Amino acid sequence: MSRLNNKLSGTDNVNDYAISATQLTRNFSNLTAVSALDLQVEKQTIYGFLGPNGSGKTTAIRLLTGLLKPSSGEVNILGCNLPKEAQNLRMKIGYMTQKFSLYDDLTVKENLQFVSKIYGLTPNEQKARLSELLSVHQLTQQSNQFADSMSGGQKQRLALAASVIHKPKLLFLDEPTSAVDPQNRREFWEQLFDLCDQGTTILVSTHYMDEAERCHKLAILENGIKRADDTPQNLMDNMAAQIVEIGAKDLRHIKDQLIQLPQVVSAAQLGTHLRVLVNKAEDDPVALLQQQPCLHTSDKLALVRPSLEDVFVSCTNQKITDDSSTTSQGGIG
Ligand SMILES: Nc1ncnc2c1ncn2[C@@H]1O[C@H](COP(=O)(O)OP(=O)(O)OP(=O)(O)O)[C@@H](O)[C@H]1O
Ligand SMILES: [Mg+2]
Repeated sequence: MSRLNNKLSGTDNVNDYAISATQLTRNFSNLTAVSALDLQVEKQTIYGFLGPNGSGKTTAIRLLTGLLKPSSGEVNILGCNLPKEAQNLRMKIGYMTQKFSLYDDLTVKENLQFVSKIYGLTPNEQKARLSELLSVHQLTQQSNQFADSMSGGQKQRLALAASVIHKPKLLFLDEPTSAVDPQNRREFWEQLFDLCDQGTTILVSTHYMDEAERCHKLAILENGIKRADDTPQNLMDNMAAQIVEIGAKDLRHIKDQLIQLPQVVSAAQLGTHLRVLVNKAEDDPVALLQQQPCLHTSDKLALVRPSLEDVFVSCTNQKITDDSSTTSQGGIG
């Protein structure tokens, strides 16, 4: 994480931002997919969109790439005002779509050759760039393999390689690791940090808490609304709830009882413990829970540090009671 610390210098000049959006809104009939989004992303940082299915991540990305016109609001990307100057942006940005959008019936090399032609690379540039990308993204062995026959992780690496072929200054990645195991996800993120170190700004959407924690800053989206926007550490430090962990027998019954309390935001079982989010206004959350009839004096209660997942739960005000939706390695969708 040390690589993250020299970022986020804090700046107010619009030219210092790769992305600057004001009150960005997009309606589809009577549904508001993105609602009055204010966003500022500093250059050479990794910025995350964290949100459940349908929260507006893809729509926001499409608005920021100029592929979709806003219903209202203003967007400036790398100095270009959208949608007016969308065409000027084409060579400056890369976009890895949520769904694999390369050709299944072309090989890895043919796909990259095709994309490099679209971006106008000369034959010499193409040769050098392809060899570099195949090596960096560990695809040299697969260069003659059809995209169709590759594993999920290999496909994601190919899609990432294709999206950076023209060395964009700004890269949009929409759930780039949805089909990737944790080990490959870590390696994928190493590539993102390398790109960032080389000067690229990255906006990445994700369902995964561990990925969100790697971002320099992130926005938590819910129903098209930005609920929070800060560094992961600040979000955890400033969250509006306190966390009590309970070790006891019959955690399921205890959870069902505690979730009824108005001071309790959520309760989720994590292995042998119950993680309970209690409203910050409560002076002594441990005492509050300890005195409930469902708990015994022998049960163990302790105040613990919040996680990003706790932040998500508290700032979206979702009463989560379903265990499966709240594992830190898992998703929130
Ligand atoms: N072209 C469209 N026409 C109508 N509704 C749309 C359109 N595109 C998106 N929506 C709606 O806007 C909302 C946000 O969708 P969006 O795809 O941006 O969510 P998301 O956060 O990317 O979800 P996921 O995690 O499932 O990819 C959804 O309710 C979706 O049905
Ligand atoms: Mg999406």
